[in-house]
Amino acid sequence: KVGLNTAAKAAGKLYFGTAVDNRYLNTGNYTAINSNTADFGQITPANSMKWESTEPQQNKFTYTGGDIIADMAKKNGQLLRCHTLVWHSQLPNWVKTGSHNNATLIAIMKNHITNVMKHYKGKCYAWDVVNEAFDDKPGNNYRSESIFYKTIGEAYIPIAFAAAAAADPDVKLYYNDYNIEDMNKKFERTKTVVEQIKAYPGARIDGVGMQTHLQESKPLSEAAITAVMNKFASMDLDVAITELDVRLQTKGANAQARQQRNSIYGNVVRACKNVKRCVGITIWDFTDKYSWVPETFKGEGEALPWDANLKKKDDLYDAILKAW
Ligand code: XIL
Repeated sequence: KVGLNTAAKAAGKLYFGTAVDNRYLNTGNYTAINSNTADFGQITPANSMKWESTEPQQNKFTYTGGDIIADMAKKNGQLLRCHTLVWHSQLPNWVKTGSHNNATLIAIMKNHITNVMKHYKGKCYAWDVVNEAFDDKPGNNYRSESIFYKTIGEAYIPIAFAAAAAADPDVKLYYNDYNIEDMNKKFERTKTVVEQIKAYPGARIDGVGMQTHLQESKPLSEAAITAVMNKFASMDLDVAITELDVRLQTKGANAQARQQRNSIYGNVVRACKNVKRCVGITIWDFTDKYSWVPETFKGEGEALPWDANLKKKDDLYDAILKAW
């Protein structure tokens, strides 16, 4: 049966996938849809492998939620992208507001990476080792609000990748960020950080995750996305579209806006198809009902191929299918 995943595979990719949120498993036909491998050959836990979930108290690791997703991927025969080890957000308070110094926070970070990666060894296709290191202000500097940057400085990133490489030599190690789908300053920052990781003793990086949270009002061309992917590929990296959604202003949304959204999805898919090192595409959940978009961007939504009733949007679904 032809679906989003089978079409991606026919185009030479490893998968088309979706984020899955533990909160909604077994509600309605949510799990039936995300387990249908014609559409989804890969899943990512939307929240349950983040630090607040896996190490809520120091050195007390809890894998219940993450294991449910990992077991589901195994049962369905889906690849698993594991997300995420080191991020400024969704941290437990003991990390976020604890009193650390350079040495203690490095030890905490290494301990976290090592424990979580060893637990999931053999289960993940890839790990997002570091997520969203740069901010969106002019200059796209290192996020000043990150406890890791504040305490350790920019070395926290290569140190994290060295710890990850030591914990699991087989899984793909990714740096993951948004607004790097265009040749802008943040994209330049990402290239630099990749070079730093590569130069750091014991560290390894296999790929860059382009989150690709896009807006209908800011279309991105196939050529622009392809150029970015080619640049990363020329650095001997894989690339993956890791969190795709294309949102629009829901109030007064018309056929033209939806058409524009669909064509942006098409541009992303064709860019991935164009570039050999693009391994696959993951959408950030599949239904508007549980999308992070409306709760994060006021007035925006309709960003995903299944609507708020978990009904497939034929126009967007077909646009993706056709683009493969
Ligand atoms: C989002 C989840 O989807 C939400 O449920 C949660 O409340 C906040 O985080 N970039 C990322 C993801 O890397 O982890 C984020 O996921 C969306 C933005």
